[in-house]
Amino acid sequence: MLLSTTIFTAFATLTSARPTTLSERAGGPAIKPIPDTCTLSNPYGQTAAAPSDFIPAPSTKSVELYAAYYPSPSSNTTQMAQQCLQQCYGYGTSTECKGAYWAEHVVVPSGYYGGEGGQLETACVFYTRPLTVADFQEASEGQGTSAYARNIAC
Ligand SMILES: *[C@@H]1O[C@H](CO)[C@@H](O)[C@H](O)[C@H]1NC(C)=O
Repeated sequence: MLLSTTIFTAFATLTSARPTTLSERAGGPAIKPIPDTCTLSNPYGQTAAAPSDFIPAPSTKSVELYAAYYPSPSSNTTQMAQQCLQQCYGYGTSTECKGAYWAEHVVVPSGYYGGEGGQLETACVFYTRPLTVADFQEASEGQGTSAYARNIAC
């Protein structure tokens, strides 16, 4: 646990060291434990048939707070998804991030760190408002795998 956290942090550090735009420079938020007083909810919680692989719909771009794309530092997807959610909580003053999405094999958007994008990487994305089922779409074959989304209300 400690080792993989260290590796994850190392990746986050590496990522934030790359040249970046101002909004992306907010990067590498600390992994902060989420207190029991906060309520976590699954945007798919009310839905019987949640796809296992899903990606954010394009319309969520306008409510995106922070996004990181990186090679998965571990094979434990549960742990990496939880760390992404804890980074959502660790962002800023722990009030800005209302929802987070994590998955493997997500298309890196064009312009991320000035790159062309298009390659598949692990994604951790934060949002300024809670997410609903309408914010997601089913992923293409082999993309958005092990997808995880949670809202945080404190
Ligand atoms: C993966 O991580 C979770 C959360 O930290 C932990 O409970 C679980 O034991 C880990 N699984 C493996 C196979 O290491």
